[in-house]
Amino acid sequence: MVAVTQERWTAVDQYLTDLLAPADPALAATLASSEAAGLPAIQVTPNAGKLLMLLAMSHGAKNILEIGTLGGYSTIWMARALSQGGRLLSLEANSKHAAIARANIAGAGLADVVEVRLGAALDTLPLLEAEGRGPFDFIFIDADKTGYPDYFTWALRLSRPGTMIIADNVVRNGAIADPESTDPNVQGVRRFNAMVAAEPRVTATAIQTVGSKGYDGLLLAMVL
Ligand code: SAH
Ligand code: DHB
Ligand code: MG
Repeated sequence: MVAVTQERWTAVDQYLTDLLAPADPALAATLASSEAAGLPAIQVTPNAGKLLMLLAMSHGAKNILEIGTLGGYSTIWMARALSQGGRLLSLEANSKHAAIARANIAGAGLADVVEVRLGAALDTLPLLEAEGRGPFDFIFIDADKTGYPDYFTWALRLSRPGTMIIADNVVRNGAIADPESTDPNVQGVRRFNAMVAAEPRVTATAIQTVGSKGYDGLLLAMVL
């Protein structure tokens, strides 16, 4: 058996990306402008972005919520799944990230279907509820990991039966399986995973992933 290393995960990710999810001008410009502005390169990989798009498409999602925009890379993938009349709202706490994301989203021709809302998600989520922006039919949680438990509570409040809730970074290089971890990010995601598991209103699974961003995972929860 060949040694399976980060180098190999990256090579295979590149191979699959070149075949199945090659960058188009809007996605390439999004990554380039994010890098030029010094944003951390923590966006989903191209294959993971396309997976989010395919999941949203297969779900027929028309009202998508994202928590954690960064430069708008995952936002653009998911917004491309929207059919006529669909909308995506993405929440971002960092004004520089939000400004870059808005420019990237406009460059992708999605300015009229995507709104980037500036503010800490725990401040903006109650406003969405008050504005009657829910229920959302597809929710992607990808902001600060310590906030995941609260984001799950809000995702449930803003959902309906059939809503798909997806969370990024639930494996974190395997650290997630360590109950003694003192890393607040690991503790936050562990609490989130436990809440999902204990919540009778959802049924969920998680998949481990490897690729150019290393070893991590996605959790998928369907609201019953
Ligand atoms: N979904 C993006 C990556 C998001 S990175 C992609 O895959 O392309 C996480 C983002 O969450 C960062 O931009 C960070 O500024 C933002 N964030 C961190 N804490 C937040 C909070 N409390 N509310 C909203 N956004 C937050
Ligand atoms: C981090 C955040 C992410 O959303 C991600 O996909 C990878 C890393 C981070 O904060 O380190
Ligand atoms: Mg992430």
